[in-house]
Amino acid sequence: MPTAPGPDVLAAFEAAKGFMPVDEGLALYAAAAEAGRLGLPLLEIGTYCGRSTVLLADAARAAGVTALTVDHHRGSEEQQPGWDYHDPETVDPELGLMDTLPTFRRTLHRAGLEDHVVALVGRSPRVAALWSSPLALVFVDGGHTDEHATADYEGWAPHVAEGGLLVIHDVFPDPVDEFTGQAPYRVYLRAVASGAFSEVSATGSLRVLRRTGAGVRGPALG
Ligand SMILES: C[S@@+](CC[C@H](N)C(=O)[O-])C[C@H]1O[C@@H](n2cnc3c(N)ncnc32)[C@H](O)[C@@H]1O
Repeated sequence: MPTAPGPDVLAAFEAAKGFMPVDEGLALYAAAAEAGRLGLPLLEIGTYCGRSTVLLADAARAAGVTALTVDHHRGSEEQQPGWDYHDPETVDPELGLMDTLPTFRRTLHRAGLEDHVVALVGRSPRVAALWSSPLALVFVDGGHTDEHATADYEGWAPHVAEGGLLVIHDVFPDPVDEFTGQAPYRVYLRAVASGAFSEVSATGSLRVLRRTGAGVRGPALG
């Protein structure tokens, strides 16, 4: 099974709207390829326009599993009009609200990976409340407030299978480096402190943790 995307998939990733740099994308792909060996689905929280989904989709295709991606498609706080991460092209002109679903669908179609992805459109905690089966990988890249990041962890991390991977994006230990808050860093600290996960790798702001035990919820830190 390949541990890196082929040139076409990498080109689709680079062409997609989104925020993930290539080195972090390659680390995400390697994690997804490894976790896919468990024969269970890969799940992402935070689809946006499908940049990282392309990588999960291709790793899922290679492993013969499905990639799931959760988003309400209305954008995070920092992506709303007036904020640094706002892209006016993501606004539905009829409603005047962000809607990244059409762009996401174009991204996947252009990458030829639609058949390997199930998009779950809704708020992460609502979808998580309906979920009950094990996952090979959970990639947390949704809302960056403490409320959202904590809900993503509590809702999805318990579903990571033993030996599966929890991947957290935008982990910034130093407040000087953070752009959207340190909630993902606090979730990362909580995961490690729980004793249920051990760190596998760090690439940029991407942390890969392996599920090694029970007790995911652990103490809520900070
Ligand atoms: C940082 S972007 C994801 C970036 C994407 N992974 C990429 O590589 O381009 C965060 C996304 O999370 C979504 N989001 C934020 N809070 C959410 C929530 N509570 N439930 C579902 N989606 C949420 C936003 O709509 C936004 O599209």
